[in-house]
Amino acid sequence: MHTAHVGPEHSTSPGYGPGTDYVHGYSDREAQRLGDQADTLAALLHGGTAYPAGSRVLEVGCGVGAQTVHLVSASPGAHIVAVDRSAASLAQARARVTAQAPGAEVEWQQADLFDLPFPDASFDHLFVCFVLEHLREPLRAITGLRRVLRPGGSVTVIEGDHGSAFFHPDSTYAQAVIGHQVRLQAAGGGNALMGRELQPLLSAAGLANVVVRPRTVYADATRPGMVDGFTRNTFIAMVDSVREDALACGMTTPDEWERGIAHLHRAAQDGGTFHYTFFKATAINPSSA
Ligand SMILES: C[S@@+](CC[C@H](N)C(=O)[O-])C[C@H]1O[C@@H](n2cnc3c(N)ncnc32)[C@H](O)[C@@H]1O
Repeated sequence: MHTAHVGPEHSTSPGYGPGTDYVHGYSDREAQRLGDQADTLAALLHGGTAYPAGSRVLEVGCGVGAQTVHLVSASPGAHIVAVDRSAASLAQARARVTAQAPGAEVEWQQADLFDLPFPDASFDHLFVCFVLEHLREPLRAITGLRRVLRPGGSVTVIEGDHGSAFFHPDSTYAQAVIGHQVRLQAAGGGNALMGRELQPLLSAAGLANVVVRPRTVYADATRPGMVDGFTRNTFIAMVDSVREDALACGMTTPDEWERGIAHLHRAAQDGGTFHYTFFKATAINPSSA
């Protein structure tokens, strides 16, 4: 879920497409945010995802391992191979899994998802979370990933959609900062509204039995863990992380930005409420691509 903050190891890879920056970046703060997000939403997003013992599962774009820890705990006997283009993220992912799921055996691989070093049909299942929204060519990504998935293998994709964010008290200033984040991500080649496109995207990639279901987060004062973990530490943190980029390209002024973020925080205070919908898709690979 932001532009800039891109280290040299990431800035030129074709993964995001030429000239595309990764809107979130790879800072410690972002690693913390990904962890908060995954831990807060684990039951909501991982519910229904468990892989049989002995099956080979490929997690693409594992980042700092925030989802990997939940994959290994739900599927302890599965053989998980986790891939990311960022060596630094993979090192953090390895440390996270070692700390949170000692004894779990995960194979780590630095690679570009558009050029995976695995034989055809070498995985039973594919898991992709919060990655397609950052790619300039998500259709090419999914179509290409079918190559390493066996016929009959499953695909699980999870994406957010910032158009689903609404909150009380409403505020045009708060809506404006979310809109700036969406436009910055689009300018970098990504799509912060990816969730609503999953069904047509996976179908166009040639997958069968495509099923997409919304997974909704709702936070109010009766759910303080969700207010902290999602409204503050995931969503507002994600939007606020693009502040410098939004100012640098003249989208907003410091006053407008601070007011928008302050108004978003009202949704995390007593009397405030926040709603957001993720989209989880499952599908079957009918054949090797
Ligand atoms: C928003 S993070 C999500 C990480 C993790 N899936 C999660 O949900 O916490 C997106 C990740 O995708 C990775 N990524 C993006 N494009 C990639 C590519 N072409 N090949 C491999 N990894 C890629 C990035 O390095 C980043 O770690």
